[in-house]
Amino acid sequence: MLNSVELRKKYLDFFKSKGHTVIPSASLIPENDPTVLFTTAGMQPLVPYLLGQKHPGGKRLTDVQKCVRTGDIDSVGDDTHCTFFEMLGNWSLGDYFKRESIAWSYEFLTEVLGIDKKTLAVTVFEGDDDCPRDEEAAALWREAGIPEDRIFYLNKEHNWWIAGAAGPCGEDTEIFIVDESKPGKTPADDGGRFVEIWNNVFMHYFKHPDGTLTELDQKNVDTGMGLERTLMTLNGYGSVYDTDVLRPVAEYIRSLTAEKGAEAERAVRIITDHTRTATFILGDPRGVAPSNVDRGYILRRLIRRAVRYARTLGLDASILKECAEKFIGIYGGFYTELEDNREKILSELELETQKFDRTLQQGLKEFEKLLGYIKDNRISGKAAFKLYDTYGFPPEMTVELAAEHGVTVDMDGFTRAFNEHQQKSKAGSEQKFKGGLADSGEETTKLHTATHLLMEALRRVLKDPGIMQKGSNITPERLRLDFNFPRPLSAEEVKAVEVAVNEAIAAGVDVTCEEMTPDEAHASGAVGVFGDRYGDIVKVYTMGSYSKEICGGPHVKNTAELGKFKIVKEQSSSAGVRRIKAVLEKA
Ligand code: SER
Repeated sequence: MLNSVELRKKYLDFFKSKGHTVIPSASLIPENDPTVLFTTAGMQPLVPYLLGQKHPGGKRLTDVQKCVRTGDIDSVGDDTHCTFFEMLGNWSLGDYFKRESIAWSYEFLTEVLGIDKKTLAVTVFEGDDDCPRDEEAAALWREAGIPEDRIFYLNKEHNWWIAGAAGPCGEDTEIFIVDESKPGKTPADDGGRFVEIWNNVFMHYFKHPDGTLTELDQKNVDTGMGLERTLMTLNGYGSVYDTDVLRPVAEYIRSLTAEKGAEAERAVRIITDHTRTATFILGDPRGVAPSNVDRGYILRRLIRRAVRYARTLGLDASILKECAEKFIGIYGGFYTELEDNREKILSELELETQKFDRTLQQGLKEFEKLLGYIKDNRISGKAAFKLYDTYGFPPEMTVELAAEHGVTVDMDGFTRAFNEHQQKSKAGSEQKFKGGLADSGEETTKLHTATHLLMEALRRVLKDPGIMQKGSNITPERLRLDFNFPRPLSAEEVKAVEVAVNEAIAAGVDVTCEEMTPDEAHASGAVGVFGDRYGDIVKVYTMGSYSKEICGGPHVKNTAELGKFKIVKEQSSSAGVRRIKAVLEKA
């Protein structure tokens, strides 16, 4: 049997022996990228280095990264899905490529972990118009000792990896453990026969927001192995809740409830999973507290959902705090921030669970009443909004409750009710501040459009997609933009940025605007800050392939209207923040 402490150590030691620098897990809350809520993969904090920036640890790195993914929240409760997980990873930043990556993965699995090579299977990319069939990876697997009938060629859906809609990407090869007792012919079937444990991505492309693909200057390797799934598979457990990181908490909850059966087990797992994620979000060095905005809202949803499931098991909301204490004990040795933030984790959990526990029972009564008089098996948006506003029911929770009773919720109606309420409460302050640009004259509008082109030009020229606007001030004479970047720009870089903006102007592309939800905006590859409240609709401005950004506007109709762009000054603004002043001259 292998436990989590041993697996982390074996992994890091192995890659250290292959010349990798062990780096600590980055924060769960991305530092320079407000477009994603949480770190979802080991590669995410490393994007600038995958694109060419020098990493202080060198060209070979390895770590165990804390990750949060809430996209699969509805699957939590099954054997393998979690909203928090640890990813073991190793990276080549323009150093080794497929040969070493594949040989080392094989060596680690068969020699260090002692996995019988007969139980392994792999997939490689079958090829398409963008990228050739990966015969190289297949040949390397054959060389390592994987038999032909255990090498599968699959399409982009399976063997291509990218985080989101744009960024570094490439073909990948995935490694599976085969469970002969389960059905399925290839890893593309979901019969349970092939359990994925490791993904090696060969990142040598960059996908631009307009969908085009270009080769990166360097060939990278990005691998990721899920700690919990690997422990489960290696130890032959039935679910991740049997691993040493989750079992003590799940068992504790089970021991307190008289409820039995599949539904009760699902509730046990949901409470275990959500409390662990909440513990890590609250305990992160950049941790947030529950709130109604972006990250805080996800945290609130997780905690409130766990409280509701605790109630279905007849348990008090204080169970969450007890579970959190257990998690601090389980993880505190490796993630010392949990011990450091113990008080904060426990007090925030107590506050949020008590607050919600007070309204949950009344809210549930209100919900039962509603079921008595709804029409067409549908809960109106207004009623769902009342549950949200008065009883603190996240709308997702109302939808879930409704589904349990075979009814639906009018979510468009909810969003309308929400926005109406927002508008009413904002009305007063909007008298004083109209939002967007205070002065939207012709010159300031042009300079505002130029600011978008400048932001994207900076990201591309400096090869850092994490560059974000930290401040902007526009007068009819000039623009002033503050952005995060650790050092002064060279004269050549300033020139290259200027040239890139002028190219976008010369291209004369139309500036188009679409309205969508923040999630859709993010999926479309737009940069910018997420809408700050549930139900927000954001505007996304696109300027051909030169820029796609969430913004309130206004903008010119075509970039050709801007004239000639000139940077007049590049200077420091504050620690880690640079400032550019620029003007538009008549072309
Ligand atoms: N980025 C890849 C993944 O998340 C490999 O690390 O699967």
